[in-house]
Amino acid sequence: MENKKIKIGLIGLGTVGSGVFKTLQSFNNVEIVKIAVRNKNKKRNIEGLDEKIITDNPYEVVNDPEIQIVAELVGGVEPAFDLIKTAIKNDKHIVTANKELLAKYGEELFNFAEEHNKVVLYEAAIAGGIPLIMPIKTILAGNKINKIKAILNGTTNYILTKMDVQNASYNQVLKEAQELGYAETDPTGDVEGFDAAYKITTLATIAFGKRIKIENVYREGITKVSPEDMKTANEMGYKIKLIASAELNKDGKADVRVHPMLVGKSKTLAHIDYVTNAVSLSGHPVGDITLSGPGAGEFPTASSVVGDIFAIVSELDKSDYILPMMRCTHEENAEMIDISDTENKYYISITANNSMGVIGRIGKACEDNNISLASIMQKEVEGNSSARITVITELCKEKNMQKVIDIFNNDPAITEVNSLIRVQL
Ligand code: HSE
Repeated sequence: MENKKIKIGLIGLGTVGSGVFKTLQSFNNVEIVKIAVRNKNKKRNIEGLDEKIITDNPYEVVNDPEIQIVAELVGGVEPAFDLIKTAIKNDKHIVTANKELLAKYGEELFNFAEEHNKVVLYEAAIAGGIPLIMPIKTILAGNKINKIKAILNGTTNYILTKMDVQNASYNQVLKEAQELGYAETDPTGDVEGFDAAYKITTLATIAFGKRIKIENVYREGITKVSPEDMKTANEMGYKIKLIASAELNKDGKADVRVHPMLVGKSKTLAHIDYVTNAVSLSGHPVGDITLSGPGAGEFPTASSVVGDIFAIVSELDKSDYILPMMRCTHEENAEMIDISDTENKYYISITANNSMGVIGRIGKACEDNNISLASIMQKEVEGNSSARITVITELCKEKNMQKVIDIFNNDPAITEVNSLIRVQL
């Protein structure tokens, strides 16, 4: 049989693109024939890279009749979406790492691919090198997955871990992380939880088999977490992590969100540190499983992109729809639960005057709103007459909790409600 190489086009030769290029060099059944970059004149020290295949016009990749698979590795909605649609119209299969595009326009993208009988694979978009999408769609297909708790953003996990071990402030650690290249100059996408929200949106859609809309995903970032919260959480047996969570309740409604959480030290996610990602899934019949590993980086992400490329390569000469288990099967939108209708356990940190009756009023406000307290701790703040009071509640309604916070904010003896962080059960 003739050894015909499958022709690949890359859009993007940044960290992930370079990793994909380097990894594919050791395989002789595929050939990268064109690569689109932003700046053609940039010096690149990549062994085996032939400058002649580089273009600064990505449409040269998606319009090239020879190319069978396009890997889109630039991210963002546009021009990525138009490039992918053009490639699909031109009969190419797609591999992408674009979490934002999937979360915002997944439905449109997969419908478009289906109309043209093409495949879009995206293992690299969620948790970099950790195999998640392919396992959920194939070997876990017999499961009803009803719960996901995950650390899906390496930048924020790095910052929170450093704050914990160095007893340092968010701003101090962010600055260090930026100097080391772990955090972007504009860190908003990571630290405000957008990146994790994109990832959990797609992950929950796949796991639950129902489409989750990103606009219904509750999101809070890590910028308000303080070293005092870290210290107190530690003393009480917890770590603070940015948790992306998705749960289906017994009526089949989905609760999907990203926010910091106190995670008990006996839980696996409490021990996932620095840039590592981890995803804990609960389903029937498998039970509980956790997958962890590198969530970003040149080679881990390339591992997922290249795996998707080979999944397509192995099926390319089939006449029927390729990779039937990977096709999009969601026709139904998930019914969503608003955060205000959820029940949670809370950690509250309050600064108050060290005066008589404050603890009593805190207890009364909680009792009046049907909130039971699991623990309460007061420490004098040295050098003045104020106190730091930490409360952990039992499971209670978010709506009631918000009412209590309003009461605290209007209490003249309470200087500030410093933090309200949910506690992982
Ligand atoms: N910015 C992401 C993170 C990596 O910090 O985990 C790419 O998804």
